[in-house]
Amino acid sequence: MKKFYIETFGCQMNAHDSEKVVGTLLQQGYSQVAEPEQAELILYNTCSIRDKAEQKVFYRLQQFKREAGKGKVFGVLGCVAQQEGEAIFERAPHVSLVAGSASYTKLPEMLVQLEAGNRRVTGLSLDTDETFDTPFARRDNPHRAYITIIEGCDKACAYCVVPFTRGPERSRTSESVLQETRTLANAGYTEVQLLGQNVNSYRDPSPVGWDFAQLLRKTGETEGIRRVRFTTSHPRDFVKGIIDAIDESEALCNHVHLPVQSGSTKVLARMQRLYSRDDYMRRIEWMKNARREIAITTDIIVGFPGETEEDFNETVKMVEEIGYDAMFIFKYSKRPNTSALQYEDHIPEEEKTRRFMVLQERQRALQIRRNSAYVGRTEQVHVEGFNRATGQWIGRTSQNKMLNFHHPLLLAPEEGRTLIGSYLDVLVTRAGPNSLAGEHFTGYVQ
Ligand code: 5AD
Ligand code: SF4
Repeated sequence: MKKFYIETFGCQMNAHDSEKVVGTLLQQGYSQVAEPEQAELILYNTCSIRDKAEQKVFYRLQQFKREAGKGKVFGVLGCVAQQEGEAIFERAPHVSLVAGSASYTKLPEMLVQLEAGNRRVTGLSLDTDETFDTPFARRDNPHRAYITIIEGCDKACAYCVVPFTRGPERSRTSESVLQETRTLANAGYTEVQLLGQNVNSYRDPSPVGWDFAQLLRKTGETEGIRRVRFTTSHPRDFVKGIIDAIDESEALCNHVHLPVQSGSTKVLARMQRLYSRDDYMRRIEWMKNARREIAITTDIIVGFPGETEEDFNETVKMVEEIGYDAMFIFKYSKRPNTSALQYEDHIPEEEKTRRFMVLQERQRALQIRRNSAYVGRTEQVHVEGFNRATGQWIGRTSQNKMLNFHHPLLLAPEEGRTLIGSYLDVLVTRAGPNSLAGEHFTGYVQ
């Protein structure tokens, strides 16, 4: 039996693609190993969102180059594969397979070619309306499952490689999404996360023609599914119906990740984001006025070309006004093919770093304040792990906050006894910038 090793970089879409790739390989008679040294086929599922992410794969390829001499086959999958294409063979001649995510449906054929000793196999066409649906996905987490609902992206944000690396938007039929959800529920999954580069532009290609809000509601009605999450949203396509769905369906988690990128309308226009600061703030208003308390998180790019001190201050002001529950901050990174390359007014690296630190510091203080408001409240968590170092169980609230807690009757996992996968009420007793801590009071009268 042939053995393969796979390492994954990048976003949840990539993580889930790898689960599907692993399932496909197992189906083809391969077995998975934990170290590249033990494998005959070594795969890297790559990310090229920022330059640093892209460099990682070339570093790995260099690191294990000597393994190639032992007759091992190297494959580069994902966004760097799609972006660099056959140039990868020149940069790393020991690579035999280069395939982007839009070609994974052809993976079994490509494996056959590799097994036949073909030295150069590629899957690089983006001209597809297919999605990579497979019943064989081998999921890493037994309680929370990713489900792809839409692949690709039709937007043209000036900084972003995704439209070039993942191709045009293709939605799955609602029936196949719901069928997968039911299958997962029957297999014991209670939480699902709907995935897409822009889930809000989901449009059911079958005659019922559901939009994202309708799909969300229906997924939430699946028997056995207690939590539904989704990522990622584009503000332009984020409609009020999504908030109404969250308000009316308990199974939908009250958390929305809505990347804003900048608080300056001028910068947003240069980024080709297709919304203004005011448009974005209107969506925030919907969430603040919702019946349920919706946690809001975001992504921000600092130092986009032409971002002045004034623009940056607008971002900081907006962040303070909104009070995000969490934030990912990125320094702008020049990417191939993107339209922002045409701009000449690039921001020096030190200045990007300074803005990054200023924003990070502000956000840290805001998160401490926000999280402190949870002390004294009881929150339901889905337990997802145990931390041996602290002796705490790790849970996640519907709002996607990490809540670490002690359990008086089960101090640690024991043979055949664990809390992982269960839902429990936990009293929050402490708050930090990135997590909460608390106690579960089973057996105590509160
Ligand atoms: N430079 C820096 N950050 C980027 N992102 C996307 N492209 C770039 C880039 N060229 C960020 C955006 C996006 C997140 C996934 O990565 O904030 O929402
Ligand atoms: Fe990275 Fe974007 Fe590709 Fe995800 S879609 S792996 S974030 S480049």
